[in-house]
This record gives sequence, structure tokens and C-alpha cells, in this order.
Amino acid sequence: MIGAFGSMDVFGREENKLNEHKNLLHKCHQTFQFAEQQLRHLIEKHPDYFPMYTVNGKWKHGGEAWTNWCEGFFGGQLWLVYEQNGDDGWREKAEHYSRLLEHRKTDRNVHDLGFLFWSTWKRWYDLTGDPAVNHVVIEAGRTLALRFKEKGQYLRSFVSDESLFIDIMMNVGIIFYAAQATGDPDLLYTATQHSLTTRRYLVRGDGSTAHEGIFDTETGVFLRQSTHQGWRDDSSWARGLAWALYGFGTVYGFTHDLRFLQTAEACANYYMEQTPARGIPPNDWSDPLPAIPYESSAAAIAASGLFQLANRTGDLVRARLYRDYALRIVDTLTEPEFLAINTPGWEGILKHGIYHERKGLGVDESVMWGDYFFLEAVSKTIKELSGE
Ligand code: GLY
Repeated sequence: MIGAFGSMDVFGREENKLNEHKNLLHKCHQTFQFAEQQLRHLIEKHPDYFPMYTVNGKWKHGGEAWTNWCEGFFGGQLWLVYEQNGDDGWREKAEHYSRLLEHRKTDRNVHDLGFLFWSTWKRWYDLTGDPAVNHVVIEAGRTLALRFKEKGQYLRSFVSDESLFIDIMMNVGIIFYAAQATGDPDLLYTATQHSLTTRRYLVRGDGSTAHEGIFDTETGVFLRQSTHQGWRDDSSWARGLAWALYGFGTVYGFTHDLRFLQTAEACANYYMEQTPARGIPPNDWSDPLPAIPYESSAAAIAASGLFQLANRTGDLVRARLYRDYALRIVDTLTEPEFLAINTPGWEGILKHGIYHERKGLGVDESVMWGDYFFLEAVSKTIKELSGE
């Protein structure tokens, strides 16, 4: 009898899981339909405009940018929609918005060429295999590598020579890619050294991350941890940690160096241990008085990074843990509390993101990278659950 009850229990649980997955798959398809509606509206209302964050749910406003790092995320969403619906009209738009960025392949003012070109031209290349498109991605990687500081062994942030940002871990992949595509050992050296320096100085023993490292530019000696968008220098800004989780996982994919996998997994463990049950962190886990309880873009990035990690870890139990946690995040973010589907007049897709809490920029708003990584995570969920 115990056996019989046991099996019924197992079957019951399996059936519940199947129903949960069916429901989530439905919400994911609904999310892409909603995304098409929102993106079409933005193209028609503000042609050739690259938004960053909303103000009261509207994309166009005169708010400060701080730095220009978001221009790839709109085109990136158009590529993601095209991958779902196969409609040539969307592909035409995706190419158009990607072409508008081409001149940025030589932009030496930002550390974000991975964000700009991985989401757009790299997606384009993956679909077409066109060498001319690949050439643009490689050139962007070469340009980013020019930020390398020999003294200190890191790619400097847009702020100053002395500054290393955790965010750059999400961009350094494009240098590894350029190194692989060209066989250039200097590019490989630069990207590897930057990743090791970041691992050493910005990732702590408990898997938490600092936003910024400050170096002595004369000697290259590391001086201290610092932050711009987190609560304190010694706390962990959730989006920065999500960039590290995803970025170190990407670097492991290029290098097969276990140190990078371990770092990505330490960040993933910190995220899962510290975050409330539904999977959405605050802007900074240590902040005793957060402006709002959620930073949804960090959750979207973490979900996509966890799907990647699930495919890269050699441990089957961990793989399942990462995948299930990613599904939990997507399940939460596809509810109307976060998905703007029932919020009339709201122009973004994902609500409750934060750009720069201290500066008061984009607080409790939609943010372009949040929408992009959310759609990426939703697309990965569809693949997982429909067995593609
Ligand atoms: N500057 C990159 C970020 O806000 O995450």
C-alpha cells in the first residue's frame, strides 16, 4: 500500500509539474505577443530612437543617460522576436536597427561594445553566417580590447583609467570571440587577464560582488572596492552580480577554465541564497531601506545566465537546480505584476526595474536591457519546455 500511495504521489507531483510547465509555456508565448505589440508601438511612435529607461512608463523623456551603453538592446529584441515568429518584416527592422549602430564598432568611449554588438550583429551573424557581419563583431571586440591597462591587467571602465567595473564581465566575451575568430593571441591574453583580475578583486569569498575596483594607475596595485549603483562599497549590487553570474559562465564557455565556472557558480549560489522565494532581488541585498523591493532586470539577466550555467556545469543536480530556479524567475516575471500587459499606457514590457537608484534614474520603471534579457530568458524557457 505504501508503494501504491508512493507512486500516486509521484504521479500526482509529475502531473502538477506538467501543468505548471504548460501554464508557463502559455505565458511565454503571450509575452512574445505582448512584446511585438510594445515594440511595434515604439518603432511607429519614435522611429530610429534608442531608449534606455522609461519615466512613468514612457520611453521618450529628457532624463540623463549617464553613459551610452543600451543602444543594442532594442535591435536585440527585434532579433529575438524574429527568431520566434520568422516574419521577414521583423527581420528587416532588426537589420535596420543593427545597421544604425555599425559606427559604434570603433567607439572608444564606452566599455559596453559587447552589450551593443552581441545582442545585434552577433545574433545577425549566427542566423546568416555572413562574413561581412562577422567582421563588424570582430572589429568591435578589437576596439574593446584597446581599453586594457597593462598596469593592473584590466579593461578600464568608461569612468576613468583607475576604474574596473563588474559590468565589463558581460562585455569581455566579445574579445574572446574575436580572439577565437582571428587566432590573435594578444586578444586572448587581454580577455583572460581581465577576467582573472575581476575574479580576484571584485568577486568575494561568499560569491557576492563589488561593483567597481579602484587601482593605482602608476603601479597597477589594487586599492579598494567601490560602487556607483549599489548601496555600499562592501555590499552587492544585484545587477552587478547578475552580470558576473552570466559573464563568467560565458567566459568558461570560451576557455573551459574551471576557475571561471566556479566563479559563475559561486555568484549563482549567492543569488539563490539571498533572494526572496519568487526569485526577484532588490537593487542591493544589503540595503536596509530599498526604494522599491525589486530590481526586475537583475532577475531577467540571472534567469538567462542560469539557463546557460545549467548547460555548462558538469553536475546534473546543480544543472537541475539552476534550470528550475531560472524557470521560477520567468514564471514570476511573466505575471501581470511584472509584465506590463495589464498596465494601460505603459510602453515597456517588464516593470519594476531600476537603472541608477542613487541618481534617481529609472527607478521602478522599464529598462531596455531588462526587456532584452527578459525576452532572451523567455525564449530560452520556450526552448526548454517545448523540447526544441
Ligand atoms: N551600466 C550598466 C548597468 O547599469 O548595469
